[in-house]
Amino acid sequence: MKLVVYLYFSMIVLGVQAWPSVKRSFELFPNPAVPHNVHTVSDCMHVASEAGDYIFKKLNPLNSALNREAVLLELEAAGAAGMGVVPGEGAAASGGGGGAGAGAGTAADVQELQPEVCGLYVMGEPDTIVEITMKHYDANCETGALMAFVDGWELNGEYFPGIKDHHRPLEERVYEFCNNYRQWPRVSNKKFFRSSQNAALLQYRIPVRGSFVANVRFHKITQPCNVLVQNTAAMYKMSNFGQARNCTISALFPAVVSLASLRIGGKSVRAQPKVNYDCQLPSDRLEIGGSAGLDAIGMELASAVCGASSDLGPEQAIFCGVSTVRLVSSGRYQNQAAIVLRKADVPDMEIATLICAL
Ligand SMILES: *[C@@H]1O[C@H](CO)[C@@H](O)[C@H](O)[C@H]1NC(C)=O
Repeated sequence: MKLVVYLYFSMIVLGVQAWPSVKRSFELFPNPAVPHNVHTVSDCMHVASEAGDYIFKKLNPLNSALNREAVLLELEAAGAAGMGVVPGEGAAASGGGGGAGAGAGTAADVQELQPEVCGLYVMGEPDTIVEITMKHYDANCETGALMAFVDGWELNGEYFPGIKDHHRPLEERVYEFCNNYRQWPRVSNKKFFRSSQNAALLQYRIPVRGSFVANVRFHKITQPCNVLVQNTAAMYKMSNFGQARNCTISALFPAVVSLASLRIGGKSVRAQPKVNYDCQLPSDRLEIGGSAGLDAIGMELASAVCGASSDLGPEQAIFCGVSTVRLVSSGRYQNQAAIVLRKADVPDMEIATLICAL
């Protein structure tokens, strides 16, 4: 299915008024007041950073687009019946009228019938992976319901980690499922998933009625590579652990980035007295930049750093919907970097090294 979640985070307008809305889009929804860590999923884009059960229920059929359509058809039929035709013919006319109405369905009608794709966007601490157990789900395939577990996040058709940066192909990262709940317990209703990084997504499209209970847990890992940032100010350590791999840290907000320590590249590169902020490929390097969407492949570069230093480097501001630091490693060297990242604010415009197109 075409998984598209409309989110307006890319609409970063460089004006003061724009900031509150940008902030609001990414407020998290942990609710410590609820006992037993039970959370109700109410927003279509629900960001979760706490372990526990996440419950979604769609009961009221009056809210569904299909039902509104049925009500409209009934009203139309009633209208046709009231046109003063003889009762016997009236029923036929109303049936015909309804049919024509449905047949001549405009693009707008179709749009309305297109059910919304929503998601439980899970984000853990940088050194964790996400585990989602479907304790229960009632997403009937026959009514067009569909659920999907995504190893990463998806927004507007773009993925984090980027399609090329992940060790699994996209087909393996997206697992779609639905069921016919009436067959339970003949058909098992449990599912279990694990992500490869601290970000995972449970998508659902439930047009008529349905429900699910998803249990979210986090597990520590020792060699995190791709990390989605939730803190608005923190230090992050990146390392390739000697491997040929590219690791990305992305923040879903405009960010100020500085380097706390650095050790990237071969001996000759590290022996240089100054950190090089313009290292050319194919050398190992730390790319700093940003993009409007989630995939780091399309990111614009502000700097590409290599060398060695343990002094705090200068701050630079990335004014993009997504700010990204990406460690590109050939596997020939032990690369590591510690970066300090914080949310950019209007005064940081002065140290901007990249401003993404709107
Ligand atoms: C890492 O990224 C570089 C440049 O973007 C690319 O040439 C290389 O193939 C990537 N390596 C891996 C292991 O994906």
